Amino acid sequence: DWNTARAAELIAAGQTLEGPLLPILHSFVETFGYVPEPAVPMVAEALNLSRAEVHGVVTFYHDFRREPAGEHVIKLCRAEACQSAGCEALADHLVEKLGIEFGETTPDGRVTLEPVYCLGLCSISPAAMIDGRLVARLDAKRLDKALEEVVR
Ligand code: FES
Repeated sequence: DWNTARAAELIAAGQTLEGPLLPILHSFVETFGYVPEPAVPMVAEALNLSRAEVHGVVTFYHDFRREPAGEHVIKLCRAEACQSAGCEALADHLVEKLGIEFGETTPDGRVTLEPVYCLGLCSISPAAMIDGRLVARLDAKRLDKALEEVVR
């Protein structure tokens, strides 16, 4: 769980770096699992930036989750090669199956659905990462099977 004291420590540790903003935000994700909203003004103040600037960076990078993730995280690649290989149909399939949109977590906290933009598996696309494990050459059936293995 996030707390102010720990966030302040991480800011202090990152502040000495050159280009400290991204390392600090990454350290939040590593430590808390996401970038807590109340930490944004703390970072802004420490780095002499506006809140809007920090917020802009947090929302620009897809890596910076803004809420705690669910127990399982599904990242479906929605970049170009995967799009040509039909990932949008898989995206619709997931949205329907899980009953949530991309960027959301199921109400029971079990599954978070997120887009990624290229997993380096373009030649065997469409691809996804499920709980950190890469899966490729996906179709709805393979995706369902991969899901069943993690989400029971
Ligand atoms: Fe999806 Fe590269 S575009 S893996």
